[in-house]
Amino acid sequence: MTGVQYIGADVPREDGREKSTGAARYATDFYPEDALQVRIVRSRRPHARVRSIRTENARRVAGVETIVTGRDYPDFYWGVFIRDQTLFAVDKVRYVGQPVAALAGGDGDALAEAGDLIEIEYEDLPAVFDPLDALSAGAPILHEDLGTYERVPGIVFPSPGTNVCNHFKLRKGNVEKGFDRADFVFEDAYRIPMVQHCPMEPHACVALFETSGKLTLHASTQGPHLVRKQVAEALRLDPSQVRVVAPCCGGGFGGKISAVAEVLSASVALKLPGRPVRLIFDREEEFGSSFVRQEFYAEYKTGVMKDGAIVARRAKLIWDAGAYGDYEASVARTAGANAAGPYRIPNVRVDSYCVYTNKPVAGAFRGFGVSEVCFAYEQQLDRIAAALGMDPLEIRMKNAVREGDEHATGQVLKGVGLEECLRKVSRALEAIGDAPGGSNGTKRRGRGIACMTKSTVAGVQADAEIVVREDGSVLLKTSAMEHGQGAHTVLRQIAAAELGCDVADVVVDAVDTDSSPYTSQTSASKTTFFDGNAVRMAAAEARRLLLRRASRALEADPEDLSVEGGRVYAWGAPGRSLSIPDLTGGEGPIVARESFKLEDATGIDPETGQGKRPAAFQMYAAQGAEIEVDLETGRIEVLRLVAAHDVGRVIHPKGCEGQIEGALIQGVGTALFEELRCEDGAPVNGNLVEYKIPCALDAPRMGVILVEAAIPDGPWGAKGVGEPGLVPTAAAIGNACFAATGRQIKALPFIPEKVLAALSADG
Ligand code: MOS
Repeated sequence: MTGVQYIGADVPREDGREKSTGAARYATDFYPEDALQVRIVRSRRPHARVRSIRTENARRVAGVETIVTGRDYPDFYWGVFIRDQTLFAVDKVRYVGQPVAALAGGDGDALAEAGDLIEIEYEDLPAVFDPLDALSAGAPILHEDLGTYERVPGIVFPSPGTNVCNHFKLRKGNVEKGFDRADFVFEDAYRIPMVQHCPMEPHACVALFETSGKLTLHASTQGPHLVRKQVAEALRLDPSQVRVVAPCCGGGFGGKISAVAEVLSASVALKLPGRPVRLIFDREEEFGSSFVRQEFYAEYKTGVMKDGAIVARRAKLIWDAGAYGDYEASVARTAGANAAGPYRIPNVRVDSYCVYTNKPVAGAFRGFGVSEVCFAYEQQLDRIAAALGMDPLEIRMKNAVREGDEHATGQVLKGVGLEECLRKVSRALEAIGDAPGGSNGTKRRGRGIACMTKSTVAGVQADAEIVVREDGSVLLKTSAMEHGQGAHTVLRQIAAAELGCDVADVVVDAVDTDSSPYTSQTSASKTTFFDGNAVRMAAAEARRLLLRRASRALEADPEDLSVEGGRVYAWGAPGRSLSIPDLTGGEGPIVARESFKLEDATGIDPETGQGKRPAAFQMYAAQGAEIEVDLETGRIEVLRLVAAHDVGRVIHPKGCEGQIEGALIQGVGTALFEELRCEDGAPVNGNLVEYKIPCALDAPRMGVILVEAAIPDGPWGAKGVGEPGLVPTAAAIGNACFAATGRQIKALPFIPEKVLAALSADG
């Protein structure tokens, strides 16, 4: 295999053997010999003024090297989109689990004992736990200084004096006129609880502050360059002082985009120059004190004509940020921009509010809020279809966006494979045979479909470097993170395809912000597109340089040369060829470094949410579910899921299928049982015993269909596939439940109690 044949080929993953044998090294495996452990003392109050923190008794415990509190970092505000939190609580705590102090020492037991001896005097304040309550007049205000916080301009619009951390607006056409014109108007409200990413590797960071002033972090992260920036800002260091090394990352799912363990361990390291300090979150911290997927509430009002055409949609979205804004401020915006769904709707109005409550901090989660809005609009659409006597597929095909249509943001759409996804999923469901609705004792079967679109950020940069080395190997340098999704394999394929070498000869360098080219964090399903384009550009440049060298040696024009399987051939003279080591062994390696950016990327108008190219691309998918509902117990079993995803162009088929299947199983979890419950703001099931995530036994039979509606500027037309796999899953399962029982359950998860209550309700 050579060149472009690598595109669409299931090449072996270079990390496959290491990871499946357990040999791979993660940040949690990094134990410098003289490392001290870090333990964080966390608030047990949801909202309280901190009167005093006494550490004298704790300091007397043998083995405690240092204790850090808010006094050490009094006004060190940080946060990715809004700098609304200090490193450690200073005057107030705003959630159970907020860091109040950190201890470092060689002995975990001593740290635990000392931690218990830290005396914190609180004065409790009224707290608010429900995002709707937080919006009401007279609600306790979490951030009195909201108006003074630094924030990313043009993206974060807080309302000082309230708990609104961000308000995103989308205005297209005139919804009121649309509702007047509509034959029918439907109004529904939906709720989704807090869930957690549950990566197998928790948040982890080893920090060393050298006496030279250099701070080196070994971190489990999706965003080494973002972490570098955040740590420098949070600790007032020069960014050049901070180096982030990112080994294998044991799962992120959005929860490791921005810093958390990194800023805490760095704040301790700064007090202990020369000593590495190591902070690994335990599972309880992982649930309550890293990031969660927020609680969510939505109101959808949709106007339709008798023929099913959607003419107006109004969505009010409320995102529970928890105590601090971090990434949630951005989730509210991206999900708001995608809240109208993958439909041609002339009149759209979206108000998306990111709201503070005294709960764990919310952040990015695979899908970036779009799973949540999809759950709402896709369940509502089936209710509308039923009321109009239409088939769920028919109403979707009637409204589905097509090539050249406008997204709700006004962006003209390219590479739209939605109709093909819908048709193929529908056919796949039919192919299973016997239309369900059949009853088997107390069990009812049903099938449902749901579809989605999700945008990917446009205004980011990705750099890549290719080094064609003296031994013939090709070093690919990137900061795109491999956190299990197969990114490095795809980038190797792209390098080999463009350069003309063997994919087995391409090796990916470890990610280190001091030496790896820049990329913004590995998120948003954007790696194949952004980093893929950067790698392709660098490989093309390396090839050009290689041919220039070869043209001298072979006495031929570069245009008459080609590279295949790592050899340069002269056209029409098969005998005349040179290997890469022939060209680099004596002269030295060839180095090419390139930077990719979308030149036509735009922002959006803050008043209307409209923009020419706020998204690099939109992804599309349709999924179908076949389920069985036990009318006696209320238990839902997901029998089958079929998923058709438009990925633009398939680079690695098995990789795409793996991404989608993994996400489908995650979708089954959020649909059927995942819910992080809090009492008075404190997680009560924040452990892997009581919080259930799907295991192999919960996996349904799955079928994946890949659709290729190429986009002009993707590498060979590719878009992305990381997130959409779970976006329509819960909605498809909900719609299957509706088909089986005639009842819709508008709040996740579909636990048996809720199913039974819905079955016994009137209607
Ligand atoms: Mo993602 S939720 O942009 O890792």
